[in-house]
Amino acid sequence: MISNKLQQARGFEENWLSRIPETDRPAFHVTGSVGWINDPNGFSCYNGEYHLFFQYHPYSNDWGPMHWGHVKTRDFIRWERLPVALAPDMEYDKDGCFSGSAVQTPDGKHLLMYTGVRSVITERGEKEDRQIQCIAMGDGINYDKVAENPVLTGADIPEGSSVKDFRDPKLWYDPAEKVYYSVIGNRSADGSGAVLLYRSEDGIHWQFVTVLDECRNEYGRMWECPDFFSLDGEHVLLVSPQEMKQIGLEFHVGNGTVCLMGDYDKKNHRFERKRLHAIDYGLDFYAPQTLETPDGRRIMIAWMQNWATCHSQPDKIRWFGEMTLPRELSVRNGRLYQVPVRELENYRTNPVVHKDVVVSSDTTLEGVRGRVLDMNVKIRPADEKGYRKFKMYLAKGDGNFTSVSYRPASGKVRMDRTFSGFGYDIVNNRSFLVDAGQELTVRVVMDRFSIELFFGDGKQAATAVIYTPQHCDGISFEAEGNVLMDVEKYDLRFDKE
Ligand code: FRU
Repeated sequence: MISNKLQQARGFEENWLSRIPETDRPAFHVTGSVGWINDPNGFSCYNGEYHLFFQYHPYSNDWGPMHWGHVKTRDFIRWERLPVALAPDMEYDKDGCFSGSAVQTPDGKHLLMYTGVRSVITERGEKEDRQIQCIAMGDGINYDKVAENPVLTGADIPEGSSVKDFRDPKLWYDPAEKVYYSVIGNRSADGSGAVLLYRSEDGIHWQFVTVLDECRNEYGRMWECPDFFSLDGEHVLLVSPQEMKQIGLEFHVGNGTVCLMGDYDKKNHRFERKRLHAIDYGLDFYAPQTLETPDGRRIMIAWMQNWATCHSQPDKIRWFGEMTLPRELSVRNGRLYQVPVRELENYRTNPVVHKDVVVSSDTTLEGVRGRVLDMNVKIRPADEKGYRKFKMYLAKGDGNFTSVSYRPASGKVRMDRTFSGFGYDIVNNRSFLVDAGQELTVRVVMDRFSIELFFGDGKQAATAVIYTPQHCDGISFEAEGNVLMDVEKYDLRFDKE
């Protein structure tokens, strides 16, 4: 059924779409048709195409009653817009359709599982959320909320856990067992984050299985947006904690993203966490979600933003928030590696290659500039003394730039957008360890308003949005000491078939 609220949202975005010039948006990163977006939702393969939904408030550039926006793609790069999929139009989700996920059912339906939010007034007269889980079934365009909703409520969580923080179901279907599973974020009785596991035989009736992991106040508090999958012989649990504490250069304060890795005893549903690390070390990355492609790749996409920076927006742009580039994941030596989806390479054009360039003072290279590009930079020392620092300037012009510097002695990278033209005193830089010694490789993917960095074979990634004017497209390099550098740079073009 298409409610008035859903119809209104569909009409609103359709009306706005043509009024925002394509060049005012990223060229290949997902944005909403108009207005605000946050978390990726329902990232799934349905009838041979990849669908992506997202937290959506079309009516303004700020977070508001959550809808689910919708796009689809065949190659993770070119996306087709589809009408809004969910609106907060039922009593049980009247204050928002929060994050969730999707699968294709064995009988060919597209099943969405999301968190319905309803505010209540407590005995103390305060407004408080009640978060419950809901199902909607659809055909890839229209989705009906099932009559059984809500399918999980505060009655289905462990004693003492929070009924107001129970959200973000990520489900999958296990064809061998013929069972659906779902992991859901929650807050345990001690107030700290937990991931609960549920099972269902029909995707509609769900039972609590176990607490898969708990943070016990160690890595943040509420754990948002869990995802759980096996990859390269390991089990991976992704979470996005609120209220993280700083831990060295690994985790910064505030909203973070954590990859927990360990063993999973599938029979007894015991996850034994062995190690953990940050997922992305940049400024703008949150709430990642993954899918598995038919050819067995695990692809991750995330909100390219951070709750701490999102209230500072550039003027006069009628959209806010975008997704990261989808990234292929692998596990090596107990770490999650991520690289841009290989499909990006199909859009490379105008190759420019410079080899064995000696860099010390400010260096620019013929043909190396741009704001929509894919570039590989490889550095090593030019002499036996080695270099002390290497620095790269991106989106440079009119006094603006974003810099990426590397000091081999400490292994530290610093990404800094202080001078990117952003007019707000928000967090503008991050330092993190890459530890590549004197030989560093970094892949830089830029798309008008963003920079994504991938170090080495993808052992670390760092992501930031920038709102530098588009004509500032310079790139330059400098070093303390002498660096020998190879650069391979491509423009990315999307108008060819
Ligand atoms: C994470 C989050 C989710 C919630 C959604 C609301 O960014 O806070 O936990 O479902 O955003 O928009």
